[in-house]
Amino acid sequence: MTAVMLGTIRRMVTLTLDGVEVRVPEGSTILDALRAQGTDTPTLCWAPNLTPVNACRVCMVEVTGSRVLVPSCARAVEDGMEVHTDSEKVQHSRKMVLELLASSVDLSQTDPDVHRWMTKYGVDATRYGPPAPPAAEGERDTRHPGHHHAPDGSTAETVAQPVKEDNDLYVRDYGRCIMCYKCVKACGTDAQYTFAISAAGRGFDTRIATEYNTELPDSACVYCGNCIGVCPTGALKSVAEHELREAGKWDEENETVTTTICSFCGVGCNLELHVQHNTIVNVTSPSDHSVTHGHLCIKGRFGFQHVQNLPPSE
Ligand code: SF4
Ligand code: SF4
Ligand code: FES
Repeated sequence: MTAVMLGTIRRMVTLTLDGVEVRVPEGSTILDALRAQGTDTPTLCWAPNLTPVNACRVCMVEVTGSRVLVPSCARAVEDGMEVHTDSEKVQHSRKMVLELLASSVDLSQTDPDVHRWMTKYGVDATRYGPPAPPAAEGERDTRHPGHHHAPDGSTAETVAQPVKEDNDLYVRDYGRCIMCYKCVKACGTDAQYTFAISAAGRGFDTRIATEYNTELPDSACVYCGNCIGVCPTGALKSVAEHELREAGKWDEENETVTTTICSFCGVGCNLELHVQHNTIVNVTSPSDHSVTHGHLCIKGRFGFQHVQNLPPSE
């Protein structure tokens, strides 16, 4: 007898999205429904392969009957729900969130979608004054002095974190970190279970750090690079990408992506080779791949030098 695998049968839920009636499986989030409907919804801390953490609040929508806006990435759909994504309240909220982030963090290396949303919502971070540097971590870096806005409106001199280049594989540039917690989730219970990084400090000084703020080679990190794979702002990036950007040679517009299978072991992980000027610059895996769910190990992520014996192109 041939066994036939049946998927779980899920009840359908009916709701309206901007006045249009839709039916989605029970347990879907509002964001799932919006994406299925093709409604462009900004997200920063959400990823298809991570548990929602509700950190960034850029995906907020209005739900009739709800006193406050709700995060579409985490809120499950309900029968009869009326969702509004383009009301004045929603537009104002998204603009404010993006402005506050852009006024405190360098967003220049985020996904192009973020720049599109900033234009769409009319973001003007300059109305918050000069950019505040991200959380310092004790030692003062006088190369990037700045002013930190205290809750009482006064400003105090503070300092930015320098780019951390303490290993051969990837850099940590926390001047670009928006504290979305994606890297922590990817290093922890959502993928790697290594727990090498976590949130440290309190209030304005909250930041992502290794245990006791040690350098990466002295931490529990196993260099899987899964944190890099989910970071939305370029705070975490491969040394190869960092060096090309520093040299003004990063050429994302002319990058090609080729999907292949990792040859290191028999698991069969799909790899996406990101190639610029005939040189592999990054390796990722599709988040919908049933083997990896977008996550890799050190070999798949960084072990590609043997397929290219050419020095990086000039
Ligand atoms: S490279 Fe892997 S182990 Fe190291 S901090 Fe990132 S997710 Fe954790
Ligand atoms: S380093 Fe990147 S992934 Fe981690 S919290 Fe900051 S922005 Fe998010
Ligand atoms: S994407 Fe929903 S709270 Fe960040």
